[in-house]
Amino acid sequence: SVTRRFRFNLEWKKVNRLCTTKRLLTVNGQFPGPTITVNEGDDVEIKVTNRVANNTTIHWHGIKQKRTGWADGPAYVTQCPIGRGQSYTYKFTVAEQRGTLLWHAHYSWQRASVYGAFIINPRLPYPFIAPNRPIHAEIPIIFDTYTATVEYGKTYMIRVINAALGDELFFSIAKHTLTVVEVDAVYTKPFTTTAIMIAPGQTTTLLLTADQLPSDPTATFVMAATPYVTSIFPFDNSTTMGYLKYNTTGTISKVKLPENLPKMEDTKFATTFTNRIKSLASSQYPCNVPKTIDRRVITTISLNLQDCPQNKTCTGYDGKMFMASMNNQSFLRPSTSILETHYRTGLGTGSSGFPERPLNKFDYTGGNASTMNTNMEFGSRVIVVPYGTKIEIVLQGTNLLAPENHPIHIHGHNFYVVGTGFGNFDESRDPKGYNLVDPPERNTVGVPMGGWAAIRIEADNPGVWFVHCHFEPHTSWGLATGFVVQDGPLPSQRLLPPPKDLPAC
Ligand code: C2O
Repeated sequence: SVTRRFRFNLEWKKVNRLCTTKRLLTVNGQFPGPTITVNEGDDVEIKVTNRVANNTTIHWHGIKQKRTGWADGPAYVTQCPIGRGQSYTYKFTVAEQRGTLLWHAHYSWQRASVYGAFIINPRLPYPFIAPNRPIHAEIPIIFDTYTATVEYGKTYMIRVINAALGDELFFSIAKHTLTVVEVDAVYTKPFTTTAIMIAPGQTTTLLLTADQLPSDPTATFVMAATPYVTSIFPFDNSTTMGYLKYNTTGTISKVKLPENLPKMEDTKFATTFTNRIKSLASSQYPCNVPKTIDRRVITTISLNLQDCPQNKTCTGYDGKMFMASMNNQSFLRPSTSILETHYRTGLGTGSSGFPERPLNKFDYTGGNASTMNTNMEFGSRVIVVPYGTKIEIVLQGTNLLAPENHPIHIHGHNFYVVGTGFGNFDESRDPKGYNLVDPPERNTVGVPMGGWAAIRIEADNPGVWFVHCHFEPHTSWGLATGFVVQDGPLPSQRLLPPPKDLPAC
């Protein structure tokens, strides 16, 4: 196999954006950061050098990191941060996955500006390309103002990455239809749609046929991304726009939102779109969803208000502060990495034993829920499972505060979304309706507002894996836990030893 080497230097850079100059933390002075392109099966080595005073780490979002948890990146989960002047080389193999992913900083809120695309070219030809309609070019979109120029009659591959800190987005291109062929670097059954929905951390690969040559030679088609929100709290509702221009037309003149862009609170569109995503489930790319499970964990995911500590001013809402929790545990990252503790001494009882059921019988989605959660505790307890466990995790949204669609991301494994629904999960009823034939395989799932999502994982990657909401503020308020897979009996089922240059805390 081939080893591909990259160098990432973390540095400050003055960047011009929409007529203002900002000082941004960047990789190699680029914003968005450099695109990593590799082939399926490659070994990858990325040397990250920290040239700023802040600590940092980088995460390769969606890369499975088989046995190489040391290269996964979340600060205090799999490594201590890279300090000023230090370097750390992330080494891993990209195997058995292909498509569009992203990388981003995984320390504090640095991923606001430290991110980029991670593209894996497949070993085999794309299953969705007809020989008479080859892909003419690839268009990466990381939601920045951008103009793509296309040629009438040709087909393009569009890689859409939601690198936002906290917005789920609708995306569409005026007058054009889009064909979804892959999500989170897993092929799907292709389907056409006028718009897509994409949560932070998710990626979607689309095909677009340039079949709308305008009669007005100056016309340009607007591509737009607008947030999906119903929250009563302040949010960033700005719409990002780009342009699709035919090579025969003139300058950009008309700016109008695409007629096919869903409205901001269009839950019906969001649900219908999400339900259309299915695994390809072909003989070449089978769907390996666990048909039976060894263990089911049910956890609430909630955002709530807490009383403001004395002598502090809280900017949350109504003089209170925001907190978040899973099964009432608001996650605190320890002062050394959980993976190192797990590897060197094993986790103590204070760190394992994440509550696998909600503490009390719950009705968090009813109308009488309050915004306060008086049962919340701080802790660092994680889920621990033996190698090979087939585990189901039911993520139960709550509307303690406001119904919100939380994008939950799991490191180190893909999972299958076997079911979703509104209201409270009913353990005696809902599993009967699961899709165990072609459920979507992903690394990030949007838990429906005021509802639940059930995911299944075969825990075949030894290590410690962060589980968290991909809204950065929510993670910092504690909407996280960890998922530990113990070593298996065979040498090939064990975590590799830590690299020599692993940073110390
Ligand atoms: Cu893309 Cu833990 O994150």
